[in-house]
Amino acid sequence: MAFAQFRPLERHPHTDEPFIRLPSPQDRIIITPPRREDVPSIVAILNDYPIKKWLDGPPFPYLNEHAEDWIARTKEQSDAVMQELRRANEEDPYGPLVTVSGCPVSCLRGVREDGTEVFLGVVEFTRCGYPDLLNGQERERIVSRNESRKRGDPETVWCIGYYLAAPLHRRGLMSCALRTLLEAWVVPRMGARRIRVETIIGNWGSIRVLEKLGFRIASTGGVWDAGEAEGCD
Ligand SMILES: CC(C)(COP(=O)(O)OP(=O)(O)OC[C@H]1O[C@@H](n2cnc3c(N)ncnc32)[C@H](O)[C@@H]1OP(=O)(O)O)[C@@H](O)C(=O)NCCC(=O)NCCS
Repeated sequence: MAFAQFRPLERHPHTDEPFIRLPSPQDRIIITPPRREDVPSIVAILNDYPIKKWLDGPPFPYLNEHAEDWIARTKEQSDAVMQELRRANEEDPYGPLVTVSGCPVSCLRGVREDGTEVFLGVVEFTRCGYPDLLNGQERERIVSRNESRKRGDPETVWCIGYYLAAPLHRRGLMSCALRTLLEAWVVPRMGARRIRVETIIGNWGSIRVLEKLGFRIASTGGVWDAGEAEGCD
């Protein structure tokens, strides 16, 4: 049977997970679904102040149970996307590529010479939650409309969450990971056309990553002094 629906996902030789490899010269880095054993690495990174200070979402202190919850939720979404692909592949293995509900890979891992892997960080695509909207009722209405949009609806507004272990910053890694996922999966396979990211003002590393990908700053200010970049079309 052809496995066209899974392209360009590869299958991990040891874990059977789907993964996407970054292009050269970053090709010792792969992106996979989360694993239970990632808990200590995630907890360490998200309690590291230089990382934490730029992230509005994760609780602080970030505890093992927070990481366990995130892993369980993210793995469930990854499994659901893989199920959509399996179904499409069974129904019409040679048919046009289907649009799916999400990205099944989110965790960056470095692969060492001996084949062991080290957790490096996260890049995840979720439907936008508009955390910067002040008016609660309006926010609820917009979020619920965005959530109710059908798979592949080009009007769906997506958001990106990302972080990387501090020693790896400024090597072009996150720009490469985001570009790879956008080009390989998020635009062609999720049908994403609108992406909106809020950053805390002064987070030049994050803003620069988005600029390099072609995002533009749409507005600044807001309840948490949030800056926002929008792009992708
Ligand atoms: C944002 C983050 C993921 C970027 O990862 P990264 O791998 O270092 O990003 P890249 O190396 O691909 O690109 C970073 C760019 O920002 C620039 N940059 C980084 N810090 C900067 C600063 N303080 N001032 C100006 N530019 C800065 C780098 O020079 C680079 O641009 P260049 O390629 O033109 O030189 C990483 O800094 C991080 O984990 N930050 C904490 C979490 C976070 O902010 N997440 C995003 C929330 S919106």
